[in-house]
Amino acid sequence: MTGCAGFIGSHLTEALLADGIEVLGVDCFNDNYGRAQKLRNIDIARDWDAFEFVPIDLARGSLDDLVGECDMTFHLAAEPGVRPSWGQRFELYTRNNVLATQHLLEAAKHRPGQRFVYASSSSVYGQAEKLPTHESATPAPFSPYGITKLSGEHLCDAYHANYGVESVVLRFFSVYGPRQRPDMAFSRFCTAALAGLALEVMGDGGQTRDFTFVDDVVAATRAAAAAPGVTGRAFNVGGGSRTTLNEAIGLLGELSGRGLSVRRRERQRGDVRDTGADIAAAAQALGYAPKVTLSEGLTAQWEWAEAELARSPARGG
Ligand SMILES: NC(=O)c1ccc[n+]([C@@H]2O[C@H](COP(=O)([O-])OP(=O)(O)OC[C@H]3O[C@@H](n4cnc5c(N)ncnc54)[C@H](O)[C@@H]3O)[C@@H](O)[C@H]2O)c1
Repeated sequence: MTGCAGFIGSHLTEALLADGIEVLGVDCFNDNYGRAQKLRNIDIARDWDAFEFVPIDLARGSLDDLVGECDMTFHLAAEPGVRPSWGQRFELYTRNNVLATQHLLEAAKHRPGQRFVYASSSSVYGQAEKLPTHESATPAPFSPYGITKLSGEHLCDAYHANYGVESVVLRFFSVYGPRQRPDMAFSRFCTAALAGLALEVMGDGGQTRDFTFVDDVVAATRAAAAAPGVTGRAFNVGGGSRTTLNEAIGLLGELSGRGLSVRRRERQRGDVRDTGADIAAAAQALGYAPKVTLSEGLTAQWEWAEAELARSPARGG
């Protein structure tokens, strides 16, 4: 499990451990957000004897021994986020999204028959011409981040075609829930609301996203490690519907019982107008069916944010 101390990776790690699966978790605590939050993310996993943590940087050196110890690989480590991917930080995107993926695949190529699940992103589609978007749409990333995630997909395809690596690509759509990265919209909204500050919205708030609760993403990812006939393919993993940012804020106001104020900022470069996942292929091949409604999932994230603030009041600003 790479990126085990991250938002999604930590949930997947716990789900596997809870089912009696041994997890070798890798993370290098890169600086996209605080090390303290990432350490807290693996607090629960560390209580399991079946969890081994390996604090290494995937972009450095050979990973043969590491991959050799495992029966399958979940590759979630990455430099995520659209907005910081412009400018100087792009170097980290190429390093952590392209080079790190190539290093892992180099190790995986010696182990045919081993499943390799790669966490990709809806960002590969860019400004989608058709919504919901089917996997057959031609990818046209709108940000440097999307370009690096698509490069990772192409690497998976090339190692699959040439070396028989059993790669499966999953395109996650706007994942949310407890432990969400602090740079993501719902996280920023919860933190601002708890501090009694205005919620900053980039653009007019009419942009739509296919929000996907983290437990649903975990279920799809686990299915991709076991389902027959899925290697060499890409699947959308979405929540099943589209919601505007303004609607999501309305919902947050209702469930938190707080009057929320909004401050509008300029639309950010790289942000697409709409995302929507056609999940028919994932339903058919992976048995995927998102279970958590936006209202349930956002309530869970709000309650987590409240608990985090109670634990560490400095976080609320
Ligand atoms: N969160 C979303 O909405 C979303 C949407 C689409 C795709 N994804 C993808 O899902 C995956 C997980 O995203 P997340 O939101 O949990 O991000 P995250 O930043 O919380 O987790 C990623 C983890 O990878 C680690 N990492 C980065 N580079 C590394 C390296 N070179 N070696 C070892 N560890 C490294 C980081 O320290 C971090 O803990 C990423 O691949 C991301 O591109 C996420």
